[in-house]
Formats: sequence, structure tokens, C-alpha cells
Amino acid sequence: MLRMDLQEILNMRGNEKKYDLLAIDDIAEKFSEIVDWAIRIKNDDDALYDFKPLEGMSVGSIYEKPSTRTRVSFETGVNRLGGQPITLLSSDLQLGKSETIADTAAVLSRYLDCITYRCFGHDDVMELAKHSTVPVINALSDLHHPCQAAADMMTIVENSDRVDGHVAWVGDGNNVLHDLALGCAILGIDIIYATPEGFEPDPEIMRRAEKIADKSGSIIEGRNMAEDAVTDAGVIYTDVFVSMGEEHLEGKMGSFDGFQVNGNLVSKADENYLFMHCLPAHRGDEVTDEVIDSRNSVVFDQAENRMWAQMSLLTLLCNEAAWETYWELR
Ligand code: CP
Ligand code: NVA
Repeated sequence: MLRMDLQEILNMRGNEKKYDLLAIDDIAEKFSEIVDWAIRIKNDDDALYDFKPLEGMSVGSIYEKPSTRTRVSFETGVNRLGGQPITLLSSDLQLGKSETIADTAAVLSRYLDCITYRCFGHDDVMELAKHSTVPVINALSDLHHPCQAAADMMTIVENSDRVDGHVAWVGDGNNVLHDLALGCAILGIDIIYATPEGFEPDPEIMRRAEKIADKSGSIIEGRNMAEDAVTDAGVIYTDVFVSMGEEHLEGKMGSFDGFQVNGNLVSKADENYLFMHCLPAHRGDEVTDEVIDSRNSVVFDQAENRMWAQMSLLTLLCNEAAWETYWELR
């Protein structure tokens, strides 16, 4: 690409409409392109020398819970796109102490070009988005983890030659499952999830996913036995049984007998199955070393893809003209 073209792209910076990403179905129409864009920039060795669509922009990331992948992938991704990442730990902010989410959103919108927010209750990120004049990205709430789903679907698409069978979820019906099911539905991929009784995913979110799946032609099914989900699967995905903020739920762990992803369980899947986990993994609980360290495991590709997928999302949300033009020209 010529420098001249890039300058033109950068001059077009700034979206007319504010988009927020609170759940992956917020960007359903463009999701397939977002994934392809991320794969393309990941494999484009030259792209990032010239392409700086976030130049002069600042992206602030608020964390109310710990993070390794989300924090580092946002910081490095924003930096690669030419922007300034600012990490805001909630312990250092007035938010949650004496200042409301609405006032925080209004103030931060005066400094920042995009805000990412990892929070406890999903209502909090909705409130931040409502009062922010710049795009807000949910960096994990109790109900949704759209950035994870973007990276997960990117990883599945990257491995599509090898995947022969549906996506099987084994474990808790949690935030990661919600956006994974929505992501599969959007891309027309079948998903069968197995959760213990009483730990099924949110029915309203699954209805949303089923509605999308009806259009894309994919299947979404729920089971209560891990084996039923895993048999003939092309992908096996699990996550921790106890999520951040649920540590007080004593005895929850005890409900997951039979849901560990181990050698016996994966023997029911296609032999080339992908093992996926959003990480951090609690080795020995939801997954054994034998599985997570096997040749089938793509967990570190997933972790890397967080950065590329978020770069695609950030460019779309902060500088749609550059996102479109890069996509057309490269
Ligand atoms: N998968 C994920 O969101 O990891 P972190 O909690 O480390 O950000
Ligand atoms: N379900 C987990 C995901 C961590 C990335 C949690 O919310 O803690």
C-alpha cells in the first residue's frame, strides 16, 4: 500500500456513529469480516509499519477484576495501531467509591477515544456505554466476554481445514459460553453444550443465540452429560467452574463431577479435535495437563488471537474508514 493511501485513510478518522460492543451479537452483521480482517492483519508482515489507524487516539481500560490476557493484549494491540493505551485499575479510580459510573463515563469521554471495561455486573458496562460519548468495549462482565469470542471464532476459522465436527462446551454455563454460542450462531457453526443441572447458560441469551442460529442454519443444543456434547466433536472448549466474583459460592465446585476434560472424555471426539480454553486454566480441575498440553490444544493461539481480534474491533469502532479501506486495499 502506498503511503499516500494511508494518509488519506488516516484523514478520514473518526466514526460518525458511536458503536459499543457489550456482547458479540452487537456486531453480528460485521462479525465474519472482523474475524477475517484479524486473520489478515496477523499474517500481513508489512501492515503495521505504515498502518496506524489509532494515531493520536487514547484507549482507556478499566479493570475491576484481575487480568493477564485482556490487559496485555489491549495494551500491545493499541500500541501496534499507533494509539496510546491507558490502564485504569479500579482501585486507583474514584469509580465505585465516591463517583458514579455515569459521571465517570462523561469525564473519560472528554479524554479518551474508546473505553474498555472489565466489571462484575453486566448492568455496569451498559451504564458506562449509555453515558459515554465514545465507543465502549466490554472486556468481560458476569454475562458476556465478547473479545474472547472474537478471538475464539478467529482461532476456529484459522483451523477450519482441521476441524471436523461441532463445537462442544463442557462445564459451567457462563459468560464465555454465552458469547461463544452467539459467535457460533452468527458464523453458522453447530454447538452442543453440556453443563450440570442448575448451571445452564442464561435462557434469554440462549434464545438470542437460537434466533440467530435459525437464520444461519446452525444447531445449538444443551445437555447435562459431558459425553453427550463431546461425542464426535471437532472442538472441545472448557473454562473454570468458578468464575471471578463467584468465589463465595461454596460447594459450586462439587457440582462438576464428570465434567473434567481428560483423556477419557476427549477419546470420544474426532481425533483431530481442537482443545480450547479462554485461560486462566485451573489444571487438574476442569482440564488435565494431558489434554491442555496435547497436540490438540490451541490455547496459546487463542490467547495470541485476543490481540489481533481486538485490533480489528478497535479499528472498526474508532476509525471505521481505515478499517474498511485497509480491508479493501490489502
Ligand atoms: N481470557 C481472559 O480474559 O484472560 P484474563 O482474565 O487474563 O484477561
Ligand atoms: N468465566 C471466567 C472467564 C475468565 C477469563 C470468569 O469470568 O472468571
